[in-house]
Amino acid sequence: VSERPPATGAWRPGDDPGSRQFLTLDEPFALEAGGNLPSATIAYETWGTLAPDASNAVLVLHALTGDSHAAGPAGPGHGDVGWWDGTIGPGGAIDTDRFFVVCPNVLGGCQGTTGPSSTAADRARPWGARFPRTTIRDQVALEVRLADELGVGRWHGVVGVSMGGMRVLEWAIGHRERVARAVVISVGAQATAEQIAFCSVQMRAIRADPCWQGGDYYDAAPGDGPHVGLSIARGVGHISYRSELELAARFGRDHQAGEEPFDGGRYAVESYLEYHGEKLARRFDANTYLVLSEAMNHHDVGRGRGGIATALATITADVTIAGMSSDRLYPLRLQQELGELIPTASAVEVVQTISGHDGFLVEADAVGRVISRALASERA
Ligand code: COA
Repeated sequence: VSERPPATGAWRPGDDPGSRQFLTLDEPFALEAGGNLPSATIAYETWGTLAPDASNAVLVLHALTGDSHAAGPAGPGHGDVGWWDGTIGPGGAIDTDRFFVVCPNVLGGCQGTTGPSSTAADRARPWGARFPRTTIRDQVALEVRLADELGVGRWHGVVGVSMGGMRVLEWAIGHRERVARAVVISVGAQATAEQIAFCSVQMRAIRADPCWQGGDYYDAAPGDGPHVGLSIARGVGHISYRSELELAARFGRDHQAGEEPFDGGRYAVESYLEYHGEKLARRFDANTYLVLSEAMNHHDVGRGRGGIATALATITADVTIAGMSSDRLYPLRLQQELGELIPTASAVEVVQTISGHDGFLVEADAVGRVISRALASERA
């Protein structure tokens, strides 16, 4: 078994599907920026049972590097335990005894849904960098097709964080009759200059890796793919996901065990970032990172709708907004802005955390309380 990272960490047809289910649309799927995908597959997982009148369905939408495995153990097909495992389950904040919960892998992703590591039927090799530009609205358009297929006309709730929160907003604006409750966590109405800046530097790191090879690295041997570029991108992203105070408190100027930074060794925080970079490179795809980063940079609920204020004013769902107190990437002012511009929003809930943007994962109990209250709301 090679210890070297694979050229791609993508799930590929022939791999163990684990708990994934699939919907394939064998017809062109039109894209916002023009053109289309000749066909599209969406991978998803479900928990709980859909009520006969389909009134108990909850859609959970993952962030940049998440996937459909929101709950459940690690095992064949799933390298890790679900990213919201404690939150989704029997008696959990998203209670699967009561709700039918659906979590799809996003369009452009690398865990079963069509993305740059997929090979279109009429092609000999994966899309790579030829994968067409896709937007948050395209991601939602594919999720709408999944809802149709599942027989869910109107979601009891749509819940998402970060890039998932972008999709919640697009659902609530573009498909307002299909969303009763929207839970929007750690996001804003449009990408900010700093978010674009962080994403663009990460994208440059991947493209600057000679092993990226213009996006055609899928046949490369383990260790010969763009894992260094992807790992650097993840490191930059990870710094932005945590708070300055937390890094200072956790790592300070500590040396990595057994290493002497003054003599070529690493500080502990350097080792930490390298660890997280390499971990991602083993389960993710560099081209997906590019495609989704670009989609996030284009995030703007006001595009073609007369601006964000006009767009947000059309929302009819019962909206709950939450943010992390120390989030420097999606700071609270962005959630306050959403709260002011969405007529159906209740007061912004602030989760106290030192963990920055990652608070949505670290503070699972506090975030879970916000979600369970939102799903119990009778205002919808
Ligand atoms: N050197 C190397 N590795 C180190 C280290 C060091 N000095 N210090 C800690 N680690 C490793 C630990 O061994 C542990 O490994 P494991 O995950 O294999 O068990 C890991 O770092 C723990 O990470 P940490 O960030 O400390 O955990 P946390 O509980 O604070 O946060 C997560 C948990 C899931 C939020 C975090 O690990 C993570 O993955 N963050 C990124 C998630 C993400 O994508 N967020 C943004 C989405 S937009």
